[in-house]
Amino acid sequence: MRHLLSAKDLSHDEAVLVLDTAAQMAATQAREIKKLPTLRGRTVVNLFFEDSTRTRISFETAAKRLSADVLNFSAKGSSVSKGESLKDTAQTLQAMGADAVVVRHQSSGAPHRLAHAGWIDCPVINAGDGTHQHPTQSLLDAFTIRRHLAGGAGDLAGLHVTIVGDVLHSRVARSNVELLTTLGARVTLVAPPTLLPVGVESWPATTSYHLDDAVADRPDAVMMLRVQRERMSSAGGGFFPSGLEYSRLYGLDQRRLDALPDHTIVMHPGPMNRGLEISAAAADSPRSVVVEQVANGVAVRMAVLYLLLAGAQATAPADDETRVLA
Ligand code: CP
Repeated sequence: MRHLLSAKDLSHDEAVLVLDTAAQMAATQAREIKKLPTLRGRTVVNLFFEDSTRTRISFETAAKRLSADVLNFSAKGSSVSKGESLKDTAQTLQAMGADAVVVRHQSSGAPHRLAHAGWIDCPVINAGDGTHQHPTQSLLDAFTIRRHLAGGAGDLAGLHVTIVGDVLHSRVARSNVELLTTLGARVTLVAPPTLLPVGVESWPATTSYHLDDAVADRPDAVMMLRVQRERMSSAGGGFFPSGLEYSRLYGLDQRRLDALPDHTIVMHPGPMNRGLEISAAAADSPRSVVVEQVANGVAVRMAVLYLLLAGAQATAPADDETRVLA
């Protein structure tokens, strides 16, 4: 694996390797001293053209926990406002010694262009591009599901994950459908017809317009998606009549929460629109793993940085390696 651009790039065994490596990284994060010397002397550049809280901070934390130097670039306040291109921005950062570039961009395909245009010569990690892909989000989601529902090892064979909401604009949904099915899970997408993309029937998932039916189908995990108002022309953008109507038909409220099987976990990639796609009761309930998803993001991103930067061979660090490195 030279870059991580899409969840589709990962084979079953590569995905399991990332999750196994993340499990080892997570174990090191339970120690008093969390820092490993693995990437000492390496520089990771966070190149963020679009807003982020969780992804940017957790990549920064992950790189620092591996002892890498981190350069944070945010398009706001940079020479991008003077018209500087992605190519020139990237080459400027490479000239400052980048060993890996983590990129979030509002345009689908920007990380692919960065990786393959020959502008820079280091691994590129997609931290979310347009409505296309967010592979590390799907890895942290798979890691969280595996911990709760698959004993923390192996793949997700036999599990049923229901993804609900604004699938049309969601790179999280696209990445999760790819990765979860690669790992053996069954995926159901639930959304109003207006928020399902053209061609969704060719995805490896079943679709439904009815959340109550999907709840009655007893999923093992329910992943609520954020309604992405910033990608709609107005509040509902013509995609649904009103927020009230949307939350009545597609929101995870107390009644639906109570109808889920006891073991079912509730997920959300964040940021959440409380009261729209998810009620406060669901977001804060004991079955919610939303905060845990964020914590797992650090371990998963440590694993990705480790596998892309620390060695040519895609192998998990030996137990004694992570022990000794501490
Ligand atoms: N889940 C996610 O990508 O969150 P941020 O936009 O805060 O990074």
